[in-house]
Amino acid sequence: MPDSPAVTEAARRRTFAVISHPDAGKSTLTEALALHARVINEAGHIHGKAGRKSTVSDWMDIEKARGISISSAALQFAYGDSVVNLVDTPGHADFSEDTYRVLAAVDSAVMLVDAAKGMEPQTLKQFEVCRHRRIPVLTVINKWDRPGHEALQLMDEVHAKTGLKPSPLTWPVGIAGDFRGVLDRRTGVMIQFTRTAGGATLAHQKVLNPDEALAAHGDAWLTAVEESELLSADGADLDLEAYLDHRATPVLFGSAVLNFGVSQLLDTLLELAPAPGAREDVVGERRAVDAPFSGFVFKIQAGMDSAHRDRLAYIRVCSGVFERGSVVTHAASKKPFATKYAQQVFGQDRQTVDVAYPGDVVGLVNASMLRVGDSLYVDSAVTFPPIPSFAPEHFAVVRSTDSGRYKQFRRGIEQLEQEGVVQVLRSDRRGDQAPVLAAVGPMQFEVATHRMKGEMGAEITLDRLPYSLARRTTREWVQQLDAQSGVECLLRDTDGQWLALFADVWRLGRTQRDVPDAVLEPLVASADL
Ligand code: G4P
Repeated sequence: MPDSPAVTEAARRRTFAVISHPDAGKSTLTEALALHARVINEAGHIHGKAGRKSTVSDWMDIEKARGISISSAALQFAYGDSVVNLVDTPGHADFSEDTYRVLAAVDSAVMLVDAAKGMEPQTLKQFEVCRHRRIPVLTVINKWDRPGHEALQLMDEVHAKTGLKPSPLTWPVGIAGDFRGVLDRRTGVMIQFTRTAGGATLAHQKVLNPDEALAAHGDAWLTAVEESELLSADGADLDLEAYLDHRATPVLFGSAVLNFGVSQLLDTLLELAPAPGAREDVVGERRAVDAPFSGFVFKIQAGMDSAHRDRLAYIRVCSGVFERGSVVTHAASKKPFATKYAQQVFGQDRQTVDVAYPGDVVGLVNASMLRVGDSLYVDSAVTFPPIPSFAPEHFAVVRSTDSGRYKQFRRGIEQLEQEGVVQVLRSDRRGDQAPVLAAVGPMQFEVATHRMKGEMGAEITLDRLPYSLARRTTREWVQQLDAQSGVECLLRDTDGQWLALFADVWRLGRTQRDVPDAVLEPLVASADL
């Protein structure tokens, strides 16, 4: 029997995200990948730094002002016979919650490392999410055209900081800043690279056999060969199983700005990275890719630009074929959901999606009943595991500055909560007019304020609360915990969970001593990942 379309299509797909510290070159790499696949004819279209056209993923004023990317979108392009889905991750520390959600939607990750900076804090934090989710990681050492660390030193650092054994697939010929090309360690040839003006076209590369490489590059070639032999002796050759099992990371060297190493990256993703496969549901059963359609919401976003003031729920397709117009079931409510408006979105560019396959990302427009983590299916029911909320560490009471706009205020807060911009906590004592916003990082508050004013037409004030720790508790302990000084219990909107808030570890310790039987369980903290 021939394979079903879902199986065939899943097999030729690769869905991945790039994890990196801001400025490592993620936007440049995205642009280079798209250029390579010839999606975008004019280089610079995606890049969003000052003086250029706006980055497809940089859509909010606040982002533009800071030059960072907060929002997420997915870029899909064909490459040869394959289809690549690049899911954009937010770059800022405060958005680790968002990163967590995005990484729930990919099958592998590319860790982009600046050759001059090595493993930076944000890269590591996002890497921890990959480790936690057991997402295979490919490493790209970027900016090799500029002076940087030694290649062997970088390998040691990657190993020490991630615990993954680096297995370089290519090895640079010439030190950082004197980039001649790479030695393809599996075939022994040199891929020589020639600069093109501005890097706006595909990099010129030429394959040299070892004799030609020696004649052209002398000592630089010999050093690369020697170092490559050292790596082999050290067991650093490719081990596919170790990569998939999160014990090793294949490594490539390149320069995104010069488009060098980009074709190797695409080829490597197709060769090594896992295609969408069966996915475990909440009870541990695996939903095969050829089962009827299923997917889950990993991101909700509204107000992407003034021309499209709407709300998009991004779905990762897990099994079957998504057909626009079909009616799917919303697992949480068991209600039918009509998928009439389905789009592929990358920044301002939107296209209607008629069919999508496992691994694809679809944006459902105005899907107001959907929340992050929700599952959708056709025929046989499935619920995928929830995407955990992080332990909030910042808390503030939110109020509308204009009591006449209470309706807008309430609706706005509800929307931000559903999108996962902030968590919303409530208690009878505080009342509905003044709920508490909770965040992993304070920048989430800035985004909330900005969006409440700009999109929801409701200006707010925020009064910070002196808490920094949250623990999960249960209804029966609320009264007793509230009676402790410096402790407050609030109910979280998203999951109906009671949280007990404490000023610091010392208060928590004292409460544990004074109310020894109280349920006080830790939540997933970003620091634990
Ligand atoms: P990000 O999305 O990870 O934050 O980084 P982005 O691509 O915006 O790149 C950050 C800076 O690094 C940019 O320079 C970009 O040109 C540069 N860059 C990216 N890849 C390479 C590379 O392979 N080699 C070199 N030499 N530079 C690279 P910028 O000065 O911030 O802006 P601009 O030069 O683009 O105006």
